[in-house]
Amino acid sequence: MSKPRILVARKVFPEVIDKLSRHFEVEYNQADEIWSRETLLARMKGKAGAFTTGGERIDAELLAACPELKICANMAVGFNNFDLKAMTAAGVLGTNTPDVLTETTADFGFALMMATARRMAESEHFLRAGKWDKWAYDMFAGGEVHGSTLGILGMGRIGQGIARRGAHGFGMKVIYHNRSRLSPEKEAECKATYVSKEQLLREADHLVLVLPYSPESHHAIGAAEIAQMKPSATLVNVARGGIVDDAALAKALRERRIAAAGLDVFEGEPKVHPDLLTVPNVVLTPHIASATVPTRMAMATLAADNLIGFLVHGKPLTPLNPEVLETR
Ligand code: 8YV
Repeated sequence: MSKPRILVARKVFPEVIDKLSRHFEVEYNQADEIWSRETLLARMKGKAGAFTTGGERIDAELLAACPELKICANMAVGFNNFDLKAMTAAGVLGTNTPDVLTETTADFGFALMMATARRMAESEHFLRAGKWDKWAYDMFAGGEVHGSTLGILGMGRIGQGIARRGAHGFGMKVIYHNRSRLSPEKEAECKATYVSKEQLLREADHLVLVLPYSPESHHAIGAAEIAQMKPSATLVNVARGGIVDDAALAKALRERRIAAAGLDVFEGEPKVHPDLLTVPNVVLTPHIASATVPTRMAMATLAADNLIGFLVHGKPLTPLNPEVLETR
């Protein structure tokens, strides 16, 4: 019997390609080209499965062009590149990579918050530029981290990880806002208090965004929200580009309406709003919150195991639309 055909849309660990090749006929973007939409559609045609990342949009148009497609396994916990409704309607399973990246991403979110509050990038650029010629009492004096108020918007697994780090490691007061309130047990574990979005904006010294992107969360933080924050506050986004209005944030940072921001994700990335590149009080990183070698390996392995689990054994590990399984 011939092996099912799959597409691996981006370059990944060779071990993962070897594993997939034992079960599938693999077409692989080893050169890691960024394919046009037409190329993606052409490559996807005739495949039973696809290994995707956040950059490949799976929507009704693509599904209509690829009737053989049964599963798209995203190497990401976020899946806003999937039109899940269209996938379910077409009987195509979507899977993501939850849990395996939670602690690593929480580490990075916390680190980015600290780097932002303590002005690490700005002061490093100053030093590298040869401008450090004397000590000064207020040189790069930033905001306090320990004992301050940590605000979290979006209290899923990663948000809870950041809350635990703040509450238990740094004695921070933790407040959060989420679509639904956590159980009393989870709130106690994170030492976190549920507040309205308005209270969160008003009271946080450091506001960290960890909510999923959807049309509802588009520009959840814009000029009006930033105006409610303390002038000494910092804002960190490790969630998705588009949740923050980057143009409004750049303007607010330039006008010192808030002290600083740390951004790992951007609207229209890998393009970055030009105004963000010229304001000094922002730490910018290229979407690397989950980027440790063990975590990226765990994510790639889980995506591969979803393809094998579903196409070979009929049992995916982390399905997003399990209703597709019932209709098979
Ligand atoms: C990925 C992420 O690196 O998991 C996610 O949702 O944002 C990152 O960990 C990125 O989406 C590539 O697929």
